[in-house]
Amino acid sequence: MQEQLKQLEKEAVAKVEGAQSLKEVNDVRVAYLGKKGPITEVLRGMGKLSAEERPKMGALANEVRETIAAAIAEKNARLEEEEVKRKLKEQTIDVTLPGSPVKTGSKHPLTIVIEDIEDLFISMGYSVEEGPEVETDYYNFEALNLPKDHPARDMQDSFYITEDTLMRTQTSPVQTRTMEKHKGKGPVKIICPGKVYRRDNDDATHSHQFMQIEGLCVDHNISMSDLKGTLETVAKKMFGEEREIRLRPSFFPFTEPSVEVDVSCFKCGGKGCSVCKQTGWIEILGAGMVHPNVLEMAGFDSKQYQGFAFGMGVERIAMLKYGIDDIRHFYTNDVRFLSQFKQA
Ligand code: PHE
Repeated sequence: MQEQLKQLEKEAVAKVEGAQSLKEVNDVRVAYLGKKGPITEVLRGMGKLSAEERPKMGALANEVRETIAAAIAEKNARLEEEEVKRKLKEQTIDVTLPGSPVKTGSKHPLTIVIEDIEDLFISMGYSVEEGPEVETDYYNFEALNLPKDHPARDMQDSFYITEDTLMRTQTSPVQTRTMEKHKGKGPVKIICPGKVYRRDNDDATHSHQFMQIEGLCVDHNISMSDLKGTLETVAKKMFGEEREIRLRPSFFPFTEPSVEVDVSCFKCGGKGCSVCKQTGWIEILGAGMVHPNVLEMAGFDSKQYQGFAFGMGVERIAMLKYGIDDIRHFYTNDVRFLSQFKQA
């Protein structure tokens, strides 16, 4: 019986040693130490032993059990440790490796120009408005002092949706829309950036869709000098502190008087070069004093209120500012073009 127990101990310990996983160790434990295991079996035969031998055998059986249990515990500990080591090795991160760069986009040049101008006007107490791109004939033309048969409509060939709706040809309809909201009470100080549409053959400087920024200031005692001072501030902000502006008489049905505004050439400083076509001046926008008819149609008393308005082409400003030679670059989504404005 003693032999049998010693033999079982040897067997069990050898199997524990040879086990490759926690599961295999557990299988050995169940097989040898379980209630139906061989040790229990051997102990059943203890009844045949003498009274002196019985406790000795009992003690030996316990010893064998303990030895096997200890072997199991030790093996389990070793297997667990190995597992942790293996995981650590597999999952180590080398923090000294260079990271993979994340590609970031950049703002579109037109967005940069619009945001610069918005910042400037917000700092002067203006708010930013929006208006619909599909506009009624009334707001796009009639309320701007351009009745149905007015020849000046020819200047803005349009995409009509129906007889009375069209893709707006200018951001000026937002003037009337905003004034109506103020119900005849000033001041009104807004700018409105947005897309406009004209029937045009696209080329390096023309596009059937482009962007404008409209400006409108209506209050008591507004004069031409307010217009000039404001636009000079815009020119300096966009093209540099040394810039000057020049007003030339022009015509828009919704302003009287109307002007075309030039900025002194930022390339040659006014001496004459290819950018300013040897004139020293570059045209940047149209403007004027809001026509009394426009004020009245929008519900303002033109005896009490005056205003100035202006409209500038965003693409033109961006082309001048960044030296872009073709308006189509803005719309073709070429990343090589767009990524050049990261720092701008
Ligand atoms: N809406 C005019 C245009 O598109 C520009 C303009 C706006 C002129 C406001 C005067 C006042 O050409």
